[in-house]
Amino acid sequence: MANLLARIFNRTTEPRFVDVLPTGDKFSVEPNQTLLQGALSAGIPLPHDCRVGTCATCKCRLVEGKVKSIMDFSYTLNTEEIEQGYILACQTIVKSNLTILIDPSSEGPHHTVKSVNGVIRKSETLTHDILKIRIELDESISYEAGQYADLSVPGIKEPRSYSFADAPKKQGQTEISFFIRRVPNGEMTGWLNAADRTGEKVTVTGPYGSFYLRPSVQPIVCMAGGSGLAPIKAILEQAAKQGGDIPVLLLFGARTQGDLYCLDIIAEIASSWNAPFHFIPVLSEEPMESDWIGARGLVTEHIKDHPGIQVPFSKAYLCGPPGMIDAAINKLNECGVTADQIFFDKFLDRSHVQKTIKADRLHK
Ligand code: FES
Repeated sequence: MANLLARIFNRTTEPRFVDVLPTGDKFSVEPNQTLLQGALSAGIPLPHDCRVGTCATCKCRLVEGKVKSIMDFSYTLNTEEIEQGYILACQTIVKSNLTILIDPSSEGPHHTVKSVNGVIRKSETLTHDILKIRIELDESISYEAGQYADLSVPGIKEPRSYSFADAPKKQGQTEISFFIRRVPNGEMTGWLNAADRTGEKVTVTGPYGSFYLRPSVQPIVCMAGGSGLAPIKAILEQAAKQGGDIPVLLLFGARTQGDLYCLDIIAEIASSWNAPFHFIPVLSEEPMESDWIGARGLVTEHIKDHPGIQVPFSKAYLCGPPGMIDAAINKLNECGVTADQIFFDKFLDRSHVQKTIKADRLHK
């Protein structure tokens, strides 16, 4: 894949220029960038999420110019969309100056993507498989609670994406944290867990993603699974700073009591809240004979009305593994929550995505 990308990118040698309709924005795309990378580096908030061609969030319409796709757009876009000239910005190599059309109502937060060097200052064990690392950056980075960044460390070729775990300060952050789940055979998590990495140099590139708190007075249903608590915690901290005056149902799915973490922080957020705040940790594999008296089963089964929360009139923010997100979306739809009120960040591993795409193609 890397060789293929290098071959495709190297054919273009000069920056190309892109006009964005109807906003009137203009930006340039360097030879080694995708259309999306060029936009984000210029601070143009093209909406995006996965950056690997599966979510269609970066869909825009090519009005004029030549492009080349890295991944076949037809995996994600339907025939009608392709015929109408829609492309995926994250999978587009720019071959000439372009004009593209975007839906301005779907623009993401206005933060310029940048790469900043930093040092790991602390790592802390949250559970048997989740680590919190705190990084001090050489310069501040601005982001929206819910967004993510790429983390690069020397010796590991591919960066890995992790959500910011804290609400940002207005003027930007020089201290950031990530919650990192140990992935079996994961290069990055193996490296982080193999020794005390305090003092190691890292590079953080971001922010990315269209998962962030929308301004609204509607109640919010938040659901987190595993390390998916990081952006949800950040979103709630940001909402608390804004007054904490919208009703919240927070569902936290885990296997056993040993997989729960940050309960003290959630309790603190809840105690400062000025509207109903229902926190329900749900355990799916806790032994029946244990002392757990809380909720059990699948976390998605616990999406229901609570005092101050009417699910059909809520916005939903979901972060965790794909199975949990898909089940939650189905349940929310059944409850009457429409797709435009549901925001999610699905954990996708790039190698897994590529394997899935190949497997899907074999079955077509
Ligand atoms: S398809 Fe481009 S960001 Fe997901």
